[in-house]
Amino acid sequence: MNSNKTVSIIGTGSYVPDKIITNHDLSKIMDTSDEWIFSRTGMKERRICSSDQATSDLAAIAAKKAIEDASILPKEIDLIIVATLSPDMFFPSTACFVQEKIKAHNAFCYDIGAACSGFLYAMEVARAQIMSGTIKTALVIGAEKMSMFLDWKDRSTSILFGDGAGAAILQSNNNSKGVMPAVMYSDGSLADLLWVPAGGSKNPISHEMIDKKEHFVKMQGKEVFKHAVIRMSDSVLETLSINKISVEDISCFIPHQANVRIIDSIAKRLGVEDRMFSNIEKYANTSSAALAIAIDEASKNKVISKGDYVVLTVFGSGFTWGANVIEWDKEI
Ligand code: ACO
Repeated sequence: MNSNKTVSIIGTGSYVPDKIITNHDLSKIMDTSDEWIFSRTGMKERRICSSDQATSDLAAIAAKKAIEDASILPKEIDLIIVATLSPDMFFPSTACFVQEKIKAHNAFCYDIGAACSGFLYAMEVARAQIMSGTIKTALVIGAEKMSMFLDWKDRSTSILFGDGAGAAILQSNNNSKGVMPAVMYSDGSLADLLWVPAGGSKNPISHEMIDKKEHFVKMQGKEVFKHAVIRMSDSVLETLSINKISVEDISCFIPHQANVRIIDSIAKRLGVEDRMFSNIEKYANTSSAALAIAIDEASKNKVISKGDYVVLTVFGSGFTWGANVIEWDKEI
C-alpha cells in the first residue's frame, strides 16, 4: 500500500422523484396532521417514485450528475457500489443495473446492505479498495425506493420515509487528508426494533405474509430514537479522537436524516447546534440515500467548501452505525 495516498470525493450528484407528498396530503388519507408530523420529525414533505421507477433509475440519474460534476467519463469508473435496502430485485445487484444505465462498462459492481448506514459503509469499502491500489476510481451510491415498504394505513411509520438517491465519485489523491478511515459498528441483537419481516428467505412472500402486512416496515420508534442519538454522537467523538481532530475544527456535521429531533439531540450532546446540516424538511428519511443527498446539497450550496473538515455520521436498521471525517478538497 502506498502510505502517501489519500482518497478524495471529486464529484457528487443527487436525484429525487418529481412527485411530492406533503404532510397535508397525508392528513387526507390517515389520522394525522402537519402539526404532529412537523413538530415530532421536522418533515414537511417527501418524494415518492412513480410506479415505473425502480431504485436503479434514481441511482443512475444521481450517478450521471456525479460523473459530470467530477469531469470524468463513465469508462474511467473501476467500481460501482450501490448501498440500498430496496434493490430492484434480489439478484442481480442494483449496481449492475446502474452500470448498464450509465454505460460504465469497465466497472465491477455490487450492492451493500447496511440499511440507513449503507452510504457511509460503501464509502469506507470504496476508500479501502482505492487505498489498496487495486482500483483508482469508484462510484458510490445510496439509493432507495422506501415507498415499496410503506403501509399508508400505518401513521406511525409511513409518514417518516421518502424515495431518492445520491452519489459520489471517489478517487485516489494526494492533495489533502480526504476521506479519513471510518469507525463502523453493528449490533444484530437489536434487529427486530426496525425491520421488514417478510419478503426474504426467512418469510418468503406469500398471501399469508401480505394479509398480515409483514412486507411493510415495523419499528419501535422510541427505542430507535434513543439508540440513534447515543450511537451517532459517540461514533463522531470516536472518529474525531482517532484522527486527532477537535469538535471545534469541524465546519459542518452531516448526520443521517432520520428525524430532526434526533439531529437536534446529537447537536446538543456535541455542542454543535450552529454547524449541523439538515434537509429533512424536504425529503423525510430516504435511508441510505439521505447522507448522499445531504453531502451533494451541502457541497452545491457551499455549506461546505475546500479546506473544510466535515463529519459524517449514520445510524440504521441492524442496528448499524458509524462516522468519519473528510477534509473537503473539492472546488465548486
Ligand atoms: N400522527 C398523529 N399521531 C400519531 C402519529 C401520526 N403520524 N403517529 C403516532 N401517533 C400517535 C400514537 O398513536 C400515540 O398516540 P397515543 O398516545 O394515543 O397512543 C402518540 O402519537 C405518540 O406516539 P409515539 O409513538 O409515542 O410518538 P413519539 O413521540 O415516540 O414519536 C416517532 C414517534 C416520530 C416515530 C419517534 O419515535 C421517532 O422519531 N423515532 C425515531 C424513529 C426513526 O427515525 N426511524 C427512522 C428509521 S431509523 C433511522 O433511519 C435511523
